[in-house]
Amino acid sequence: MRLHAMLAALALTGCGAMQRPMPFDQVDADPVRHGERLTAVLGCKGCHGEQLSGEDWGDPGFSVMRTANLTISAQRYSAAGLKSMIVSGKRPGGRELWDMPSYLFANLRDRDLDAIVAYLKTLKPVGKAAPEPVFLAPARKEMAEGTYRSAAAEVRASAAKLGPDAGPQFARGRLIVRATCAECHRIDLDGSPSYPGEPPKPDLRIVAAYGKADFLKFLVTGKAQGNRELEMMSNVARGRFAHMTDPEREAVHAYLEAVGIQAAAPTP
Ligand code: HEC
Ligand code: HEC
Repeated sequence: MRLHAMLAALALTGCGAMQRPMPFDQVDADPVRHGERLTAVLGCKGCHGEQLSGEDWGDPGFSVMRTANLTISAQRYSAAGLKSMIVSGKRPGGRELWDMPSYLFANLRDRDLDAIVAYLKTLKPVGKAAPEPVFLAPARKEMAEGTYRSAAAEVRASAAKLGPDAGPQFARGRLIVRATCAECHRIDLDGSPSYPGEPPKPDLRIVAAYGKADFLKFLVTGKAQGNRELEMMSNVARGRFAHMTDPEREAVHAYLEAVGIQAAAPTP
């Protein structure tokens, strides 16, 4: 009987699922709609524009570039090619991408990546393809020194790196935070600058001081505790995290709260 119960429990949860839960919910059975939601949550629309047709991404004195026009890329590349660019930071058989944060997407599940690609494939081409990036002397110097790295190099350096481990019950939140918050607050969540001169972001361990209701309100409305409007984060929340499901936002809160509480606990 005991063995039977154990097998039943295994069938319900699955060994793999215990270790690696699905980070994102699929609310809509249609993969295209699911993919569209994820392009908001994951910030694709933040960088590639609301229509995904690309935006100015140049940095005066450093580089002249645009984020790719994904409505054109979707025509140019196969589904497999698009998926591989998203996670590898490299064009199939071609050059490495720059400033495309593929290291964030390395832990996404196939179901979610395939849905994103399915959504991209439905886009009607708008405008022109982005010209190839031009890097000015300061950028080329940093490339030579290895301090400015391609998207593919970032993948090689940190795709396997996860945020702090708070225990298996928080594994889902850990994966969502790794894919959505690490871009600005860093993989280890301490908010330290990723290049010299970048303004630091708050350490996400401060979420332990947020109650669950306040935190969910923050992610949906952008209003921080005390009804504060924040310079960048408020728009990021409204544009991206308002599209999360409640269980996703709750998983983020539970994980960050656990990490914060563990950090505050005196070391034995
Ligand atoms: C932080 C900004 C940023 C985010 C977030 C971002 N991208 Fe990008 N992406 C870029 C930039 C910049 C490029 C252009 C890189 C280059 O030309 O070297 C790019 C290039 C690409 C390319 C290569 C297309 C081509 O034709 O070369 C694909 C595909 C892509 N992004 C898909 C996505 C998807 C899907 C998401 C969301 C899951 C996403 N990006 C999120 C900045 C971003
Ligand atoms: C595109 C960059 C970006 C992303 C992505 C991002 N943040 Fe932020 N966040 C910021 C910045 C910048 C600040 C500092 C306030 C400001 O300038 O808006 C901040 C501030 C915060 C704060 C402090 C709020 C307060 O009470 O002052 C919290 C909490 C926070 N972020 C949580 C998150 C969580 C959780 C995620 C992922 C679900 C996330 N952030 C993703 C940029 C980002």
